[in-house]
Amino acid sequence: QQARRKTIFDLMEQIASHYQKALRDHPKAQTAVDYLRKRGLSGQISRDFGIGFAPPGWDNLLKQFGTTEESRQQLLDAGMLIENDDGKLYDRFRERIMFPIRDNRGRVVAFGGRVLGDDKPKYLNSPETDIFHKGRELYGLYEARQFYRKLERVIVVEGYMDVVALAQHGIRCAVATLGTASNSDHLRTVFRYCSEIIFCFDGDEAGRRAAQRALENALPTMEDGRSIRFLFLAEGEDPDDTVRRVGGTGFEALVAQAAPLESHFFDSFAQQFDTNSMEGKARLAKQASPMLAQLPNGVFKELMIEELAKRSGLRRQALEELQREATPPQS
Ligand code: UTP
Ligand code: MN
Ligand code: MN
Ligand code: MN
Ligand code: MN
Repeated sequence: QQARRKTIFDLMEQIASHYQKALRDHPKAQTAVDYLRKRGLSGQISRDFGIGFAPPGWDNLLKQFGTTEESRQQLLDAGMLIENDDGKLYDRFRERIMFPIRDNRGRVVAFGGRVLGDDKPKYLNSPETDIFHKGRELYGLYEARQFYRKLERVIVVEGYMDVVALAQHGIRCAVATLGTASNSDHLRTVFRYCSEIIFCFDGDEAGRRAAQRALENALPTMEDGRSIRFLFLAEGEDPDDTVRRVGGTGFEALVAQAAPLESHFFDSFAQQFDTNSMEGKARLAKQASPMLAQLPNGVFKELMIEELAKRSGLRRQALEELQREATPPQS
């Protein structure tokens, strides 16, 4: 098992190099090169992230790397080949810009591939495999850790392009969840390397929902000494759009003004109902109290409960009652 795993990682690294080389010298790579340039990416940043190109064709990878039964099985296990109903094998990634996804040890475990035009799906990702667990990996985290001797904070964004565009503008600490919602595993992983997280999702309905989920997932991880903030972008923009509009320094200024978890927490209720009316205060207390119960014990939790008491006009004891009512009794 151990020996076989090692060769899968070797194979993935070789494939990443193969895609990178294709971006440099495949006869059909010019459209990909032009595309990356149009998106404002330099050759240097593309190299830093190991961005490559999967040329058109159904069997490029198969021919180059799948010369033995064993190697074909490996490619299949790694999610790089697909087997059709007749048992025929073909390349999963065709005519796409390729983003290698590295695990915390820097090993290539998967790829994301973007179409050059408007075809669907826009991004194709490796499936779950023995070496790739989507819910755990964050695109760009390894690269960020390589760049900074000591990583101070991480900006969590939605997309590959957001990570790379921010890097292009000197902000090398962005990471992306891989088309899934951020979960508390992601947050725990990030907190292993730094103590501050800034969530910066797309300025659209999906992005706001992602921020709400991120808030809920963040609560249990919010130990004293950690900081979580939320940066909301202009309607219709994602971090790539914004950094290209305002530049690296401008984006840093936005990050500096990002809302701390506590303001976002209370604001999100104020956006849903009138938290100044008595009925609103009751709703606030009922909904917020069980959420705050998820915070790890500490000073931050105490302060949040104080704040809820102030805003709802309820005493702590009454708030604790509400937590007990909301949590079903353990049998
Ligand atoms: P977006 O649609 O916001 O992508 O999806 P984007 O990065 O802004 O795209 P472009 O390149 O600028 O047009 C955010 C992320 O969701 C995942 C990808 O990880 C993408 O980067 N996604 C999106 C998919 O996995 N599949 C899709 O078809 C679309
Ligand atoms: Mn989006
Ligand atoms: Mn985008
Ligand atoms: Mn986007
Ligand atoms: Mn810039």
